[in-house]
Amino acid sequence: DQSDGASGENEIIAGTAPGFQPFEMNRDGELVGFDIDHLEAVVDETDYELTGWEEFEFDTLIQALNNGNIDVIAAAMTINDERREQIAFTDPYYSANQSVLVQTGGGFQPSDLDDLAGRTLGAQSGTTGEGIIEDEVEDPDYQSYENYVYAVQELEQGRIEAIVIDQPVAESFEADREVEIAFTFETGEEYGLGVRQDDDDLREALNEGIAAVQESGEYEEITQEWFGE
Ligand code: ARG
Repeated sequence: DQSDGASGENEIIAGTAPGFQPFEMNRDGELVGFDIDHLEAVVDETDYELTGWEEFEFDTLIQALNNGNIDVIAAAMTINDERREQIAFTDPYYSANQSVLVQTGGGFQPSDLDDLAGRTLGAQSGTTGEGIIEDEVEDPDYQSYENYVYAVQELEQGRIEAIVIDQPVAESFEADREVEIAFTFETGEEYGLGVRQDDDDLREALNEGIAAVQESGEYEEITQEWFGE
């Protein structure tokens, strides 16, 4: 059924949520990052054609997919059961844990989630970081942000005390902004590409593409480019 998303036979449109460096961000007016290069390489291995990228707030991506505005989500989205009720995921393509960011030299140095009790905390709306604040921190003063970039600005200015965010993104903000990682904790998250639940052909093609990109060494090249490991 090609009636959703892009119009042509086998043409697909991707959706992402920039402001999540180095996975997806706007640089000099251009959308760039690991997820952009990775999805493009993956789709190149398939019979599908990626005709464009659309940008959304993270918490609206699932709706955009199910409305047919986009055909695939590539947004460092963690595979979990709650999301699986609404969309399907490909095989995992990246593993991550969560970190707690604080203001550099700000004096607040928590060492575990218990130390966050009662504190002013930020996360991006709809993320797993938000879920941790809601479920695992006692009595937080929680501020939800449409984008982690705004949360980092507020943290730099001392208006919030800590942010819960995926570790690779925390490391990237630590390198360019006045914020530092206080501690990291294991969540064993795995990112997958999101597709509509009935889009089995696309999901299977993407899974083959993910495997091919890993085997060819391209995955390693893209990782080098964005993480310099
Ligand atoms: N991995 C986390 C989650 O799935 C955060 C993803 C945020 N992604 C983004 N592009 N802003 O909830």
